Amino acid sequence: MTSASGDDQPGDITITPARPPVTLTPLRWWHLEQVDAIERALFGVEAWSVGLFWSELSLPDSRYYLVAMDPAGAGQGAAPDTVVGYAGLCAYPGDGYIQTIAVRRDCQGQGIGAGLLLALLRESVRRGPDTVWLEVRADNPGAQRLYARFGFTPAGIRRGYYQPSGTDAVVMVVRDLRRRLAAADPGTSA
Ligand SMILES: CC(C)(COP(=O)(O)OP(=O)(O)OC[C@H]1O[C@@H](n2cnc3c(N)ncnc32)[C@H](O)[C@@H]1OP(=O)(O)O)[C@@H](O)C(=O)NCCC(=O)NCCS
Repeated sequence: MTSASGDDQPGDITITPARPPVTLTPLRWWHLEQVDAIERALFGVEAWSVGLFWSELSLPDSRYYLVAMDPAGAGQGAAPDTVVGYAGLCAYPGDGYIQTIAVRRDCQGQGIGAGLLLALLRESVRRGPDTVWLEVRADNPGAQRLYARFGFTPAGIRRGYYQPSGTDAVVMVVRDLRRRLAAADPGTSA
């Protein structure tokens, strides 16, 4: 999957495997119970509802959602074939949007989030959009660092975007994604 090396320039993408390996597979309705448990544990009152995930899944022309499955049960306390993370993309003809990305707390820091993000970015260029946007909480430097490793840069602030907390969102964007991915991974059919 992906991590930065000390020699990287800002926006460079370096691909290394996740430890331990996980399997990325399309999010299906039968994953939603586990996804909901992770969502609530991570986002509390600002968690997406199961209904919102259902409505996202009902729009396959523009949406692409993946789950990271832990086939070996290698995450701390994770049973085999459990969902350890998930992420979603919205891709319209011009621009792509990272809708959400989350990794179970006890499985974070192993490259799973980077792997999910990389898969969404590859899918975006496959579908067309070469520019991808996202919003991230202003008080979430870890996630911002992950996005910066993929070339995302801040493009603005949405005041009070997250409710009910009123936390600001930082809008981030990466352009020229096809070239970045191809440079990082010659296997990219971008
Ligand atoms: C943000 C989030 C999705 C990142 O997922 P993750 O799986 O922890 O991310 P990664 O493991 O790919 O990268 C995180 C760290 O692990 C390190 N890492 C990456 N690959 C690694 C590997 N193969 N082995 C060990 N560590 C690795 C990275 O260097 C990174 O370190 P850094 O924080 O110093 O940059 C996750 O922390 C999360 O779910 N947070 C809560 C929800 C959230 O904030 N979502 C984003 C909303 S916008």
